Amino acid sequence: QELHTLAKAKGKVYFGSATDNPELTDAPYVAILSDNNMFGQTTATNSMKWDATEPNRGQFTFTNGDVIANLAKKNGQLLRGHNCVWHQQLPAWVTNGHFSKTDLLSIVQNHCGTLVGHYKGQVYAWDVVNEIFNDDGTIRQDVFSQTTGMDFIATAFRAARAADPNAKLYANDFNIEGPGAKSTAYQNLIRSLKSQGVPIDGIGMQAHFIVGELPPNIQQNMEAFAALGVDIAITELDVRMTLPSTPALLAQQQRDYETVIKACVNVPRCVGVTIWDFTDKFSWVPGTFAGQGAACPWDQNLVQKPAFQGIVAGFS
Ligand code: G3I
Repeated sequence: QELHTLAKAKGKVYFGSATDNPELTDAPYVAILSDNNMFGQTTATNSMKWDATEPNRGQFTFTNGDVIANLAKKNGQLLRGHNCVWHQQLPAWVTNGHFSKTDLLSIVQNHCGTLVGHYKGQVYAWDVVNEIFNDDGTIRQDVFSQTTGMDFIATAFRAARAADPNAKLYANDFNIEGPGAKSTAYQNLIRSLKSQGVPIDGIGMQAHFIVGELPPNIQQNMEAFAALGVDIAITELDVRMTLPSTPALLAQQQRDYETVIKACVNVPRCVGVTIWDFTDKFSWVPGTFAGQGAACPWDQNLVQKPAFQGIVAGFS
């Protein structure tokens, strides 16, 4: 079975996988990634971020991002842009620049406008702001909020819209897949932005999950966002476990993938699902969480796991 084909049959725009430039030297990997019935969409995990695209003020480099964009184009796949504004992978010149509010807003505007403008016409949706709230629903304290309050958010969205009027503009975060303080914060933000005429089209639920620990009521939470008039995308799905993997863990992981896909299938405004790379060979998880991994639907050897069948079942 081919996952993008199954997603389309359920009225979704895409099923996709993220990827990263160093992985593209692996020919068997690229063959699977490039199967546009399996994956109708891709996201660059690193190469469109601020440190990669504007390492020094006003000096833009799109070389690695272009590689991913051109691969998507060649494969006939949609591209999600990730991301315009994030507190991580942010160059020191931004973090430690001690800019005034006016200067930092102009830096945000220039970064988002130039980045989104460079990829104009090539990107289905942009993660314009990434991870801007804490789990308790307060604004994350970073250089952007400390210098501009909430104003960087509207600046970023407006700059992105002006630079590519056809790209869907998203806020993206983790721990907003289920209801709670953080989801409420995003719902309030969406209401507030819309009331001010600031363009926002979608909410990205990253969905970095732990086996057996999905939040309850994912579908209900998607419906709450849909009621505000925005699209929903699952943007970075994976389901990690404490290693070694066992048949029981892999079976639970299969059910977890199925649960997430089913929620998206059941909500018309959920447009698609992206997995945060398709193989354990290139997953970010072991590098961040020691002793954890096996989070993807394909194993280290590019062989499909029970999780793959969970996705298939979710689309059935
Ligand atoms: O590029 C350097 C390389 O030169 C150096 O030799 C190597 C040594 O550690 O590091 C390389 O940079 C790494 C980079 O990935 C590229 O591989 C960084 O250390 C590493 O921290 C970075 O991790 C990325 C992470 O974001 C950073 O926070 C992951 O690949 C990427 O998958 C992950 O993606 C994030 C999303 O953007 C937002 N949501 C959460 C998600 C998972 O953390």
